[in-house]
Amino acid sequence: MSINIIPTIDLLYAGQVPLIPAYAPAPNGQMSDTRGRLLGDLRISVTDRCNFRCTYCMPKEVFGKGYQYLPQSELLSFDEITRMARLFVAHGVTKIRLTGGEPLLRKNLEVLVKMLAALKTPDDKPLDIALTTNATLLPKKVKALKAAGLNRITVSLDSLDEVTFRAMNDVNFPVADVLKGIDAAHGAGFSAIKINMVVKKGVNDQDVVAMARHFKGSGHIVRFIEFMDVGSSNGWRMKDVISSAEIVRMVNADMPLVQAQSNYSGEVAKRWNYADGSGEIGVISSVTQAFCSTCTRTRLSTDGKLYTCLFAQSGHDLRALMRSGKSDMQITRAIGLIWNQREDRYSQLRTEETTGRKKVEMSYIGG
Ligand code: GTP
Ligand code: 5AD
Ligand code: SF4
Ligand code: SF4
Repeated sequence: MSINIIPTIDLLYAGQVPLIPAYAPAPNGQMSDTRGRLLGDLRISVTDRCNFRCTYCMPKEVFGKGYQYLPQSELLSFDEITRMARLFVAHGVTKIRLTGGEPLLRKNLEVLVKMLAALKTPDDKPLDIALTTNATLLPKKVKALKAAGLNRITVSLDSLDEVTFRAMNDVNFPVADVLKGIDAAHGAGFSAIKINMVVKKGVNDQDVVAMARHFKGSGHIVRFIEFMDVGSSNGWRMKDVISSAEIVRMVNADMPLVQAQSNYSGEVAKRWNYADGSGEIGVISSVTQAFCSTCTRTRLSTDGKLYTCLFAQSGHDLRALMRSGKSDMQITRAIGLIWNQREDRYSQLRTEETTGRKKVEMSYIGG
């Protein structure tokens, strides 16, 4: 007789049901954590699925045929996401980024964008609504996203070299189709599209300069990202990291750069302008120059857990509060308490020991 073993979702993703304080002052848009960092950005993962298997994010050996993704019933509905977003906005969130997995795999995402775009900050300003995508579905979806009120798009693209890119996305997806997605977004009215390239030593570092050169003068902004030890499945090793300093050196040797001011306090990327005025690049140095001291970001997972750090080991189950009938006021207080007690600064504390810890995957928590 064969025993049918039903795989269960890892306990790691179980989440703790947050406490609701009996009293808390009404939100005033200035919610501070234990290190004086104000809550400012909410990143929402709308699906834990992706049509790529980037080796640094969803390696095939882990995210293969037997991998158990969240069932539909576990996902937050658009109404639930919008409700949460509204409560976070009352606490000071002004920027929302939709991520995944690949967010465009979530059906009718433009409907969610429209719902989020209707929210206003306490001083009646519109939110900044951004999307991180691998661009594969942009040609089909981007016009509707624009019409729904999406403000900004970031595209992941790790190489312009066909062989390297196909090996990194590990589903044999061609470069040309990502470029078509970027063009479609541009055609639909998105400008200054950000292009994220995760750089891994010996894998795509030889393509850094070509990537910079390709987008120089296009109005789009390439950002080179240090390979991180996010999640527990990408086999991260310090010796695979190419530092941002090295990347700036490589690009500068070919196309001179001058350092630029940040656009806003707490900006993740350090900006560099081309000396000839033809645009800019950014470098994101989570490993060699941690930016935790100004981190205003929080993340809502596909199934409604709140994570106060990308490298968290557990989350706070806001969905449990919603689905057990708690009021907006109660959930608002719970969120306030979680943020008030936040101490996270993983990238400042990273050691060999922390790297080996079991952490939630980026595809689930949102990039
Ligand atoms: P904007 O400034 O709003 O355009 O976005 P951003 O700079 O936050 O960029 P984006 O959301 O595209 O983030 C780029 C990459 O930086 C992510 O994919 C991660 O690799 C990394 N990153 C973003 N936020 C964090 C964070 O809070 N901690 C760490 N360690 N890395 C982050
Ligand atoms: N290191 C750095 N960035 C990563 N991303 C995913 N995994 C990693 C990693 N291990 C980021 C990339 C991509 C986004 C979806 O997530 O920036 O563009
Ligand atoms: Fe998918 Fe983005 Fe992760 Fe690549 S980095 S597997 S495109 S979610
Ligand atoms: Fe923020 Fe955690 Fe990233 Fe530090 S490691 S910047 S605290 S998300």
